[in-house]
Amino acid sequence: MKIGSFETDGYAALAPMAGVADRSFRRLCREFGAAYTVSELISSKAVSLNDKKSLGMMNLTENERPVGLQLFGSDPQTMAEAAVKGMQFCPDFIDINMGCPAPKVAGNGGGAALMKDPKLAESIVKAVVNAVEIPVTVKIRSGWDENSINAVEIAKRSENAGAKIITVHGRTRQQMYAPSVNLDIIKEVKNAVSIPVVGNGDIETAKDASNMYEYTGCDFVMVGRGAMGAPWIFRQINAWMYEGITVPEPPISERMRVLIRQSQMTVEDKGEHNAMREMRKHAAWYMKGIKGAAAYRRECGQLSSLEQLYELCFKVCKENE
Ligand SMILES: Cc1cc2nc3c(=O)[nH]c(=O)nc-3n(C[C@H](O)[C@H](O)[C@H](O)COP(=O)(O)O)c2cc1C
Repeated sequence: MKIGSFETDGYAALAPMAGVADRSFRRLCREFGAAYTVSELISSKAVSLNDKKSLGMMNLTENERPVGLQLFGSDPQTMAEAAVKGMQFCPDFIDINMGCPAPKVAGNGGGAALMKDPKLAESIVKAVVNAVEIPVTVKIRSGWDENSINAVEIAKRSENAGAKIITVHGRTRQQMYAPSVNLDIIKEVKNAVSIPVVGNGDIETAKDASNMYEYTGCDFVMVGRGAMGAPWIFRQINAWMYEGITVPEPPISERMRVLIRQSQMTVEDKGEHNAMREMRKHAAWYMKGIKGAAAYRRECGQLSSLEQLYELCFKVCKENE
């Protein structure tokens, strides 16, 4: 798929995930064949105030491309200014968040709250589209709640305002992350707009991805939680979609190798102290399904150095030979 100068070569993108899909994880997922990646969500207001942490989050590396900067906010002007500031980091596209349910985002009128105000949502897209030369994409939910399912309207308005891709997470804001995703709403959006539609929600296996494509007719799929502690899901999806090949789950030694690689990249990016604290949850995800996982997870929760991680991985391999 080609959007502007942003070209993709796989079947599934990595979903934006605050506190999870950082630079190292995005790079790792690209190595496993993720079609493109999206930054963690960044506050347009904080960027406009030159907040150092937010500007730091905008810093992108070559290895994670194609990559988009995801912004949230409720003011068209501030969103446009933040997008312009983001251009110094050369993103391949700007993604507008209209799905975040968190009170500190939606409570201030941004994220999923924009779905309650379609006109404002449209003017935000318009303002950002007019401010930058690169493609602007929009990530939405099915609606705010069951009584206001309006993904089709928001998608049409976004298209009208110049958005180049719509990603639909088929759940309302009220539903947060359960029950299971509503594929029908993704299909409805796909049938209503001419720009590419990305289907998102509950893809845990290559078969789930294939089902999302078949059922909704979407142009792309996006994987979030299914990639946590399992970045090889992109390789599995691509093998299935390109060649009909089922790639089995990697052996434990390979999983530990990938965990070590992610940890090393994170340490390089954030320093050992911060990195290892963040890697605790990732390490625990890599233990999923391994015999004795509960005890290993407890050890993951104590990790504070790479050395400790090496020892744990060695132990996991040895005990599961
Ligand atoms: C820990 C976590 C953080 C997330 N952060 C973001 C975010 O920053 N921006 C966004 O648009 N969606 C965010 N999401 C939602 C995901 O991008 C995705 O839409 C959702 O998890 C459904 O896809 P999945 O079932 O594949 O996980 C987040 C989800 C999780 C689990």
